[in-house]
Amino acid sequence: MALFFRSSKRRRSEPAEAVVSRETDIPLPDGPRRAAFDRADDDWGLSDEYGIEHEPEAPPLTLPRPAEPRVFVVANQKGGVGKTTTTVNIASALAFGGLNVLVIDTDPQGNASTALGVEHGSGTPGTYEVLLDGASIADHAQRSPHAPNLHVLPATIDLATAELELVAEHGRESRMKRALRTYIDDSEVDYVFLDCPPSLGLLTLNALVGATEIMVPIQCEYYALEGVSQLMRTINKVKGNLNDDLELSTVLLTMFDGRNNLSHEVAREVRSHFPAQTLGVEIPRSVRIAEAPSYGQSVLTYQPKSPGAVAYVKAAQEIALAAKE
Ligand SMILES: Nc1ncnc2c1ncn2[C@@H]1O[C@H](COP(=O)(O)OP(=O)(O)O)[C@@H](O)[C@H]1O
Ligand SMILES: [Mg+2]
Repeated sequence: MALFFRSSKRRRSEPAEAVVSRETDIPLPDGPRRAAFDRADDDWGLSDEYGIEHEPEAPPLTLPRPAEPRVFVVANQKGGVGKTTTTVNIASALAFGGLNVLVIDTDPQGNASTALGVEHGSGTPGTYEVLLDGASIADHAQRSPHAPNLHVLPATIDLATAELELVAEHGRESRMKRALRTYIDDSEVDYVFLDCPPSLGLLTLNALVGATEIMVPIQCEYYALEGVSQLMRTINKVKGNLNDDLELSTVLLTMFDGRNNLSHEVAREVRSHFPAQTLGVEIPRSVRIAEAPSYGQSVLTYQPKSPGAVAYVKAAQEIALAAKE
């Protein structure tokens, strides 16, 4: 059973080599490759030359515990907007801030499980067993090696069939909610994050029903708001029928490029639509953020001083401080 306990000693990660997925036989060059954009942009004086590791260090902050555990669903049916990146990095930042955090990976791709360094090969018990077999979260949550007090319920590729299998099941929309209730009662968890697949099917619906707050990452690009109105309609339906407690509490601007007028325009528009919900900090487009998962890490441990890591820590801080109000 995965139990929370606080320890002042952090385990060091071992990020010697990037892990490049080799699911095909096509030979890949050794080592990580840099993303093709913004090569020099976030390098100025903030980190060593590429490849030289920084000592993982906890951000120097202690965050307040919320009065009640907060359960976030990180949703946006658009793919590639930064849902998983946001889940992984905000969850890590809160954990480094001294809080107990659980990440539930509900995307069969298992990207959050990979980035948080937990086992999630086919057959590994996790979200599938919780949704389909009624297993308990505590039995299958794994401790992430990269942050203190951070647990992950992994997603495996087996979850890809869960969407169809759930259709015939009784109480198919509220299975995660029931499992979460038990977990919250039995653990000292402060924050739960459910990372969603890029669709509005039964996996996302289970996450929406299980959560009380929605966090929507919005990518600062031309089609940013497309799909958000559809998401809002879904949220309102869920709110009216399956989960009255659901609130869109947090909007986070991701992949912000300060040199680009479009980024500023999108940010302005999003802020005018969601003035109370949009966090003050924007997450910059950053090579370091994109590279971190290939080392099985969050950017917080991979390059803790990079602008992307600093922005995610600020975002986590804003979220934690808002809970006090
Ligand atoms: N701030 C950022 N700067 C640069 N690349 C990013 C940033 N956020 C995410 N990415 C990259 O964009 C891609 C999509 O992000 P991801 O978090 O997987 O989106 P989603 O979960 O919404 O599909 C990934 O390759 C990720 O590494
Ligand atoms: Mg994702």
